[in-house]
Order: sequence, then C-alpha cells, then structure tokens
Amino acid sequence: MNAGIAVKLKVENRPMADMPEPASMRSAAPTMPAGHSPPSDSLCFSLWDKYAMLPNVRKHSLVVAHIATTLAGRAQARNIAVDLPHVRAAALLHDIAKSYCVQHGGSHAQLGASWTIAETRNYAVAQAVLLHVYWPWRLPEGDCLCTLPFFIIYADKRVRHDVCVSLDERYEDLLTRYGHSDAARSGIRKSYEQGKAIERAFSALLGGALHEDSFDCGRMVQ
Ligand SMILES: [Fe+2]
Repeated sequence: MNAGIAVKLKVENRPMADMPEPASMRSAAPTMPAGHSPPSDSLCFSLWDKYAMLPNVRKHSLVVAHIATTLAGRAQARNIAVDLPHVRAAALLHDIAKSYCVQHGGSHAQLGASWTIAETRNYAVAQAVLLHVYWPWRLPEGDCLCTLPFFIIYADKRVRHDVCVSLDERYEDLLTRYGHSDAARSGIRKSYEQGKAIERAFSALLGGALHEDSFDCGRMVQ
C-alpha cells in the first residue's frame, strides 16, 4: 500500500461511527475495571522501543502527554474526578503504531489500540488510542467531557510534531500533508471542527481561553 492510500484510509476511516455510543461516556468518571492499573511510564517507554517508535513520534507523544495531563489536572482542581495516570498513559501510547503504519500502511489508531490491549489489557487506554483522531458520536456535555478520550483528542490536535500550536495551525499543517483528495480534506475539516467544539467546551468548563494557551510548552500560540 502506498503512503497516499494509507493516509486516505486513515483520514476517511470512521470504524465506530455506526455503532451505539458507549454507555461509559454518560458519567463523568467511568469506573476502571478492577485490577486495571494504568500502564506505567516505564511500560509505555518499553513499548515505544518494542514497536520501534521513531524519535520524532516519541517527542510528539511527550508534548501531547504534557498538555493532556495539564488539562486533566485543571479538571481535577475543579473537583472533577479524573484519573491522571490513565490520561498520561493514553497520551504516551496514542501514536504507538504511527511509525509502523507510516511505513506499512493501515490505521495507526486501530493497530495501536489492538497493541495496547495485547500489551496492557487496559481497555480504557485502548479506547483512547482507538478514538484519538476523531470521536464518532456526539460530544458529551458538561463534566462528562472531562474523560480520557477527550483530553487525548484535544491535546493531540494542539501539537504539530513536538510544538504546541493553535488548532488553526495544526489544521493547515494536516491539510498540506494529507489533504490530497476531497474526502481527505472533508475528514480533516470534520476533525478540526470537532477540535474547536472540544476547545470551546473545555474553555467553558475549565476557565481561560484555551485557544491562546501554550500550556507552558515554551512557545506562545499566535
Ligand atoms: Fe498524535
């Protein structure tokens, strides 16, 4: 499979869109199955090695983890129940299959989720990996947005390579790199609009103007 086809599949594929919304998203703090502690940093880093994650993807994932846990920490400070170690692990693993799929094709979200299940048995983290590109159902309202997948979806959309940027900058970057067809551009647009909706909702819930927030990444968003 050439890179163009792989990218098209990745952008267009919405594998869960026709399935019912998960019941766990209707409460602000879905209960983790007993015995499912979050994958530790050392386990995540060993999986990076095992699956030959490229250095640029590792740097990207560290910045995504920083932003996702910063947001989750702000939710926690507002007495919203959030599991920070799960947020960090999901951010560290969200692109675990990216390097493989860039080379060989396929959906990095689907393959990454299957690897996450196989390696960690942690279904909450795997769900966040599977759905980190696009949430195929309506967004949860109120505190229910402060659940694992949405911290990862939003943080990932704020990081271009390893730099914190605005959603607009990230959108332009994706259009340039992957917008090779009408379908691909449409998928990128939908993802961008969802990112803006999450940004507005997080800003209202957590305070501040997230679109100009650099999360102390060393670069102010323009
Ligand atoms: Fe990513």
